[in-house]
Amino acid sequence: TPPDLDVRRVGGRIGAEIRGLDLSAPLTPDTVAAVNAALLEHKALFFRGQRLDDAGQLRFAAYFGELTTAHPTVPSVDGQPNILPVDGDEGIRSNQWHTDVTFVRTPPKASTLRALVVPPYGGNTLIANSAAAYRDLPEPLRELADRLTAVHTNDYDYAAPRNEKAAAHRRQFVSRKYRTAHPVVRVHPESGERGLFVGGFAQSLVGLSSGESRDLLRILQAYVTRPENIVRWTWEQGDLVLFDNRITQHYAPDDFGDLPRLLHRVTVAGDVPVGVDG
Ligand code: SIN
Repeated sequence: TPPDLDVRRVGGRIGAEIRGLDLSAPLTPDTVAAVNAALLEHKALFFRGQRLDDAGQLRFAAYFGELTTAHPTVPSVDGQPNILPVDGDEGIRSNQWHTDVTFVRTPPKASTLRALVVPPYGGNTLIANSAAAYRDLPEPLRELADRLTAVHTNDYDYAAPRNEKAAAHRRQFVSRKYRTAHPVVRVHPESGERGLFVGGFAQSLVGLSSGESRDLLRILQAYVTRPENIVRWTWEQGDLVLFDNRITQHYAPDDFGDLPRLLHRVTVAGDVPVGVDG
């Protein structure tokens, strides 16, 4: 039988903090199974005050599956092919609602973020429950969403970058261009839950004009980003967050100016998203 975890809900509809688990020590398979069960239920798990190094983060992420390379286009941390530096000083600001790397055929199943440097204020991460968003849709919209396919791409008309560092990051981000179609409603491969699978890289809907796509995506996206469906995490140095990339979106407000903020991201490989018709 899996051990009891000390799981404390943080948001009303998403997110739980796991207390009393030291991730710097190896976890037993039972504990990993319990964490995975908590992940399926709460979608985002927060582990405060851990003291992990890169190796510890890699080991923790690998309990949940094979690791991906850090990013399809953005370079990894030196000598660590699986670690993406989310470095505010390098112009990396994720202030757009998105699910990580949905523009590839098999987007990551889960992401871990570890806080190395946190600003004294601001620089939070918001995570949204896209299954709750789907359930919130009025039935006619749910039926429509079930039948839609979105094209996800990293190559679209971004707003002007705020400085040269951000411009350089943007050039790197789109140095190879991806376009991939995914169902708008994704059936979670483990829980069977349906969730809206859209976000910032979903730029158009198959069979609709660009104007229709934009309008409809905005309507669907508004359900994802309702305050009810969001948990907001205020980082402390050492925190580790694990979220299920198959059924969440996230957003990092760019409200920390030139204060330093550095997270390391490690993602776990996922499968091809499947819609309601299989
Ligand atoms: C990301 O989008 O993976 C990074 C989120 C963050 O900076 O909090």
